[in-house]
Amino acid sequence: MAIYFVRKLMMEVLIKLNKFNDHLKQSAVMIEKAIDKVLPTENKHPSILHEAMRYSAFAGGKRIRPIMVLEAAKIFGLAPEKAIFTACGIEMIHTYSLIHDDLPLMDDDDFRRGKPTCHKVFGDAIALLAGDALLTNAFTVIAQNAKVEGISAVAVLDVIDKISEAAGSLGMVGGQTVDFESCGKRIDKDTLIYIDTHKTGCLIRASLWSGARLAEAKAQDLDTIDKFGEKLGLIFQIKDDILDVTGDEKVLGKPVGSDEKNLKNTFPQVVGYENSLQIAEKLSKEAKQLLAAYKNNDFFIQLVDFLLNRNY
Ligand code: IPE
Ligand code: IPE
Ligand code: MG
Ligand code: MG
Ligand code: MG
Repeated sequence: MAIYFVRKLMMEVLIKLNKFNDHLKQSAVMIEKAIDKVLPTENKHPSILHEAMRYSAFAGGKRIRPIMVLEAAKIFGLAPEKAIFTACGIEMIHTYSLIHDDLPLMDDDDFRRGKPTCHKVFGDAIALLAGDALLTNAFTVIAQNAKVEGISAVAVLDVIDKISEAAGSLGMVGGQTVDFESCGKRIDKDTLIYIDTHKTGCLIRASLWSGARLAEAKAQDLDTIDKFGEKLGLIFQIKDDILDVTGDEKVLGKPVGSDEKNLKNTFPQVVGYENSLQIAEKLSKEAKQLLAAYKNNDFFIQLVDFLLNRNY
C-alpha cells in the first residue's frame, strides 16, 4: 500500500515537472516571436549591425528573465501578453550584457548559447556596437508597452525608471565593474554578494518588479516580489558559478572553467563548493516562503527549484 502511494506521488511530481518544462518552452517560443517583430530586420541599414544583433538574440537561451516579467504580470492578474514589450526589452538588455561580457577585454569567451560568440563571428567592434544598439533599442521597445490597451503610461514610466537603474552603474554595470576589478584579488563574502546581486540580481529583480508593476500590483506586493527577486538573483548566480566548475559545455552552451581562467571570484572559490550549495538551498527555502501566501504561486515555487537544479 505504502509503495503504491509513493509511486503515485512520484508520478504526480513528474507530471508537474513536465508541465512546467513545457510551459517554459512555450513561453520562450512566444517571446522569441515577439523579439523577431521588434528587432530591425537584416535588410535595414546598416545590415551588419542588425545581423549581429539578431545573431545573438536568436542564438538560444533560456529566456528566463522575460518569462519572469510575464509570470509576475500573471500572478497579479494581468494577461501575460500585455507585458510582452517589456519582456522583449529585458531580454534585449540581457543579450547585450552577454555580448559585452564575452568580449576579449572582459571574460574573453568563444562560445555562448552553443554558438561562437558575437565577436568571434562579427569582430570586436561590431559586437560592441550590437550590444550598444540592443541596450538602447530596448527602451524604445519597452516604451511601446504604454500603447497596449489597459496599461497605464505611468506604470510604463515606473518600469523604465526601474529597469534603467537596474541595468546601469548602480546595478548590473556596477556589478560587472567590481567583478572585473576584483579579478585575481582576494575579496570578502560581502563584496562577492555585492558583485552577484548587482551583475545578475538587479536585472532579475527588475524583471519581476516590472511585470508586477504593469499589473498594478499594490506597494506591499511589489516589495514582496522584489525581495523574492533578490533571493532568486543570488541563487541564479551561485548556480551559474557552480556550473562553471561542474557543468557540461555541450549542455551549458558556454565554456566551463572560464572563471578559473580569468581568476574570478566566484561562490565556490570564496566560500567553498559545499557551502555554496547550502547557501543556495537556504535562499531557495526563504524565496518560496516569501510567496507562500499567494494563490497561483505554483510557477514561481517551481521556478525556484528549476533555477537551483538546472544544468544549463
Ligand atoms: C547568463 O545568463 C549570464 C548570467 C547573468 C549569469 P543565463 O544563464 O540566463 O543565459 P541564457 O540567456 O540562458 O543564455
Ligand atoms: C555575467 O556573469 C553577468 C552579466 C552578463 C551581466 P558571468 O560572466 O558569470 O556570466 P557567464 O558565465 O559568462 O554567462
Ligand atoms: Mg563575466
Ligand atoms: Mg562571462
Ligand atoms: Mg558565469
